Amino acid sequence: MCGIIGYIGSKQAVPILIDGLKRLEYRGYDSAGVVIYNGQNLNNVKTKGKISQLVDCVQGKNLSGTVGLAHTRWATHGAPSEINAHPHFDCSGRIAVVHNGIIENFSTLKKALQSEGHKFKSETDSEILAHLIEKYNKDNDFETSVRLALGQVEGAYGIVAICSDEPDKIIAARKGSPLVIGVGTDEYLIASDASAIVSHTKDVIYLDDNEIATIRSNSHQITNLLNSNGILKKVEKVDWDLDQIEKGGFDTFMLKEIFEQPESIINALRGRIMSDLTRVKLGGIEPIEDKLSDINRIIIISCGTSWHAGLVGEFLIEELAKIPVEVEYASEFRYRKPIIDKHCLVIVISQSGETADTLAALQLAKQKGATTFGICNVVGSTIAREVDAGTYVHAGPEIGVASTKAFTTQLSVLVLLALYLGKLKNLSNQKAKDVISELVKVPKQVKQILNYNEQIKALAKQFSQTNNFLYLGRGYNFPVALEGALKLKEISYIHAEGYPAAEMKHGPIALIDKDMPVVFIATKDGTYEKVVSNILEVKARDGVVIAIATQGDSEIKDIVDHVIYVPKTIDCLTPILNVVPLQLLAYHIATLKGRDVDKPRNLAKSVTVE
Ligand code: M6R
Repeated sequence: MCGIIGYIGSKQAVPILIDGLKRLEYRGYDSAGVVIYNGQNLNNVKTKGKISQLVDCVQGKNLSGTVGLAHTRWATHGAPSEINAHPHFDCSGRIAVVHNGIIENFSTLKKALQSEGHKFKSETDSEILAHLIEKYNKDNDFETSVRLALGQVEGAYGIVAICSDEPDKIIAARKGSPLVIGVGTDEYLIASDASAIVSHTKDVIYLDDNEIATIRSNSHQITNLLNSNGILKKVEKVDWDLDQIEKGGFDTFMLKEIFEQPESIINALRGRIMSDLTRVKLGGIEPIEDKLSDINRIIIISCGTSWHAGLVGEFLIEELAKIPVEVEYASEFRYRKPIIDKHCLVIVISQSGETADTLAALQLAKQKGATTFGICNVVGSTIAREVDAGTYVHAGPEIGVASTKAFTTQLSVLVLLALYLGKLKNLSNQKAKDVISELVKVPKQVKQILNYNEQIKALAKQFSQTNNFLYLGRGYNFPVALEGALKLKEISYIHAEGYPAAEMKHGPIALIDKDMPVVFIATKDGTYEKVVSNILEVKARDGVVIAIATQGDSEIKDIVDHVIYVPKTIDCLTPILNVVPLQLLAYHIATLKGRDVDKPRNLAKSVTVE
């Protein structure tokens, strides 16, 4: 939530900051702002709305300078408005702060600061940071003032601040919200993630929690926020290119990412399948390899689409490794008193690796003695660095807010993990081979499904004015029903519910009439016959049925209204294929409705607040 970028060097800062903000816009897009040190004081421009509106506002303004900060906001405290947009300033206008996170004790701090005479302009929690720094800046240098101010703050932050009295530096600090420093030649950038930096430098330093950095155009110094000890950090190389985060001829990032799936699944599997097709290799698992034989229970924790992947993971691990699995919403898990011991493996799944609830749940699981394993996409993300061991899904940057290629690569990696754990628990070579020899066909099969794009678009036209949808599936495809419904609602704003198909008759069947389309995942797997009975129940009540069915299933055509065919595979791999037409259906319905699919309202790509 919220994107931050700062620049210090010898170039004009505004174009660099605006360009960076555009790459961070997926993190939040309800208001934006920029501040520049112009040689004497701080000049700023802020606006409600997206970065394109900020670009219009900046036109013709004198924002010349080589040091500056910018921010794109996802509102938590205070409505989206120009006043609430960042940067925020102290009373004197000398200190500017951009912030990502939530200051939990902000109202206590605000009251105290107001009683000392500080005048607030916005309704945000972030503004208190500027005033607190101002308070300490009376008697201290800028860095010390930031340090002392943060000492008062409870909650999560990634902050970047500048002060016109000490314009040769940017101060950045983090606790709970990501910040990455880009190290250039006589210039530095600092941003919420590397996508805003890679066009300038691929050399980066990931700031960790409780670290504060003082950054000048030709040097940086990082210390511990709590004890001021100096910290020597490794400069790491970003291993992806700018063209991976551009649209590459597609209208939207989401469509590009849907179409990238054959390639991203190949990347997720690359180097991880042994040539005899009976064994897999997961390099990242080595640090916990010796503990795995003692594991008797697995908890998978995640949010949103990653949680749906976790549900499929439960089926996979229970089928292939015969280890009991529970799947938890991170936001619920973190506030329970979970029973965990050292025989428990906690798997966290997160595309961004920054989701606040998932991170907090991971930290709780570690405290309680679990062995932890992460499945993340963003390399170097906080979760990826905090787990005991983990593996990347290698989907490449996912910019569209609706997760697509992250999901199918998460599923691919979960198949590998289930096979790996299965091998530790006597999974036969034959069974492993049956799965792996089908798994390697999946990228091509996804490509075949993508060829139905125009057919799915035509189908979408018939449903773009519908107000409600039901998605039903069973077994491995119940989570796919949930994911199909989530995709539709988040980008089209049409109400959609996912349900286990057989549960329909315990309530949702009351909703069925000719205006309620029902999407059935009805591929030929172990639940096929049962799903067909559920379809007939819907048809008997005048429901309109769209079925995802297996190529060659000609009978289903006679009982449903519309069919989208997918290639045949084994049960445990059906989710990877079946979700693809649902992504396309949601995509086309949403674009026909004129929605901004890459930046749906009220959402942000990384949910770094509770
Ligand atoms: O980055 P994460 O995988 O931890 O994100 C979890 C959810 O916020 C995310 O999957 C969200 O539900 C997506 N918008 C779904 O498309």
